[in-house]
Amino acid sequence: MATEQQLSTKHILGIKYLTEADIRLIFETARSFKEVLNRPIKKVPSLRDVTVANLFFEDSTRTRISFELAEKRLSADVVNFSASSSSVKKGETLLDTVNNILSMKVDMVVMRHPAPGAHHFLSQHIDANIINAGDGTHEHPTQALLDAFSMEEKVGGLEGKHVAIFGDILHSRVALSNIFCLRKLGAHVRVCGPPTLIPKYIDKLGVEVSHNVKDSLRWCDIANVLRIQLERQDIKYFPSLREYAQYFGISKALLDELGRPIVIMHPGPINRGVEITSDVADSEHSIILQQVENGVAIRMAALYLLAAKR
Ligand code: CP
Repeated sequence: MATEQQLSTKHILGIKYLTEADIRLIFETARSFKEVLNRPIKKVPSLRDVTVANLFFEDSTRTRISFELAEKRLSADVVNFSASSSSVKKGETLLDTVNNILSMKVDMVVMRHPAPGAHHFLSQHIDANIINAGDGTHEHPTQALLDAFSMEEKVGGLEGKHVAIFGDILHSRVALSNIFCLRKLGAHVRVCGPPTLIPKYIDKLGVEVSHNVKDSLRWCDIANVLRIQLERQDIKYFPSLREYAQYFGISKALLDELGRPIVIMHPGPINRGVEITSDVADSEHSIILQQVENGVAIRMAALYLLAAKR
């Protein structure tokens, strides 16, 4: 795998800081790696002698496994760190933790952290390339890249396509990164949820706002359904999960009314029966597991292209 082109940045801190050309380069590189992943031997030597630390200060299933697999498929050396079983519990700071790990000759850092901006802070203090694997309610850039890549695989170019993002937009880093990515690729974007879960002034990002699920389903080609993030909600934003499911959940009955298929997506983890019913999540129009599959190729591309900047 060799490419003449380079990313415009040495870190992936957020989609906000990537150009459309960066996104296209990541997609083109991911397509090559997807081909590698379908071979009997799914491994290339591209990151041999590169050491990557996966630092997870917050829980994860998909992103963590996906990055680790991507790194191993690229032949990188991998170290995993979990805050819950580390000296963070004894009061060590983020910078001390990371500097200690880097002094063991680590080249790249993949980090998930609950504080928005933690990666930005780190990028001003360390030399290693940093990939943001989710920072609080701020950004989750590789999720947005794998989402848009999966959408393009399904419907072709996103220019002029209608993508509706449903659910807890207020607490979602996936929503913000999706909005930045989809707008850069020319899609029309709408967010839909209860007024309490839509941030004020989000229309300034060039998206439509709706509180009407039926109308938004009629409007879109693709529905990206997000989970209610109860762990980030310190007050009640809606009366009950049952009521949320009734008024804002995506059900088969609602989709049947459309009279045409739309693509169904969800970044996971899914709260079945709350934001989406099982028959929708598991339907033939759902590409939820393709999203997860594409995540490995997208993360291989991100790691490979950042390593080329070293
Ligand atoms: N989509 C996503 O970020 O899932 P995890 O929290 O399991 O990594």
